[in-house]
Amino acid sequence: MSDSLRSVGILGTGSCLPDKEVTNYDLEKIVDTSHEWIVSRTGIHKRRIVDDATATSDLSTEAAKKALEKANIKPEELDLIIVATVTPDMSFPSTACIVQSNLGATNAAAFDLEAACSGFLYGISIGQQFIATGMYKHVLVIGAETLSKILNWNDRNTCVLFGDGAGAVVLGPTEKDKGILSTYLGADGEGGKFLTLPAGGSRMPASVQTVEENLHYVKMDGSEVFKFAVRIMGNAAKKALDMCKLDVADIDYLVPHQANIRIISSAAKRLKLPMDKVYVNLDVYGNMSAASIPVALDEAVSKGEIKKDDIVVLVGFGGGLTWGSCVIKW
Ligand code: UT7
Repeated sequence: MSDSLRSVGILGTGSCLPDKEVTNYDLEKIVDTSHEWIVSRTGIHKRRIVDDATATSDLSTEAAKKALEKANIKPEELDLIIVATVTPDMSFPSTACIVQSNLGATNAAAFDLEAACSGFLYGISIGQQFIATGMYKHVLVIGAETLSKILNWNDRNTCVLFGDGAGAVVLGPTEKDKGILSTYLGADGEGGKFLTLPAGGSRMPASVQTVEENLHYVKMDGSEVFKFAVRIMGNAAKKALDMCKLDVADIDYLVPHQANIRIISSAAKRLKLPMDKVYVNLDVYGNMSAASIPVALDEAVSKGEIKKDDIVVLVGFGGGLTWGSCVIKW
């Protein structure tokens, strides 16, 4: 980072998970699947699901309150709120504006961003730039999803994989040479077709036909996404390390996107990083898209597994296709 730019760190983390647990055994009752298949192919045992009345802004607000408390920052001190999500409460107003109102963050600008499972990393990178340049002091970045609302619960290819949740961080200025050391983002729109929600936008507005054809639900070519993910996770982590002149050997903790234990282990293997340096919670939450990384980060920090001065790498991939990574000196 150029000397004229401020160093930016994570001042506080928070998360919010719905209470309701859905186990693989529960899913066996609604689709043709088995606990054994799901565990052996994904590593997922259960996931959390919101009730009908809960929307993404509700989880986001709770996660944000906890992050603000940990950071010891009042809502009025926030300059910007970014919510990364593919499950906004509605097209507009943005979920970020709803959160702004819920928090009483009256001095904050607010917008949503959509980069699927990579959304939180995109948000971190954007928030960092605003603070580094001196434009803003405190930015709240939230990754939040209620994916249960856009899953076809008759489609075993997708409904067993995902869960709901929200994670948040407060970014702010920090000591020189600490905090976010690098961020790297990428996209490949050619692969967009492998993970989509086709209807409800301007290409295919909602109609009786789109509802009848289940076009408002997630469609995924799992094996194509799998191949992409295995390749990109290691590459993206290395790229962010190169950008701040660090090496895999310097990593104290890797917090990857939580999509599939086989993707995570093969990325760790490619990096030659032992699994005891990798945070995994997909067994209990499944894939929470943009919420996976911030929830995992909050848990690792709260448990004391990430400590002062640790080198932490965040890395993720998702629909778009998109990917991102980030190196932080904690
Ligand atoms: O955050 C990004 C979002 N997405 C991802 O990260 C997903 C990445 N992909 C994956 O994690 C894996 O590809 C899956 C877990 C989705 C699938 O695992 P796979 O080892 O790639 O299985 P597959 O797609 O090759 O399917 C194998 C078989 C198929 O049956 P046939 O055609 O071989 O007879 C599927 O129909 O497994 C079947 N199958 C299931 N069987 C039982 C697919 N889903 C299920 C299921 N239960 N839930």
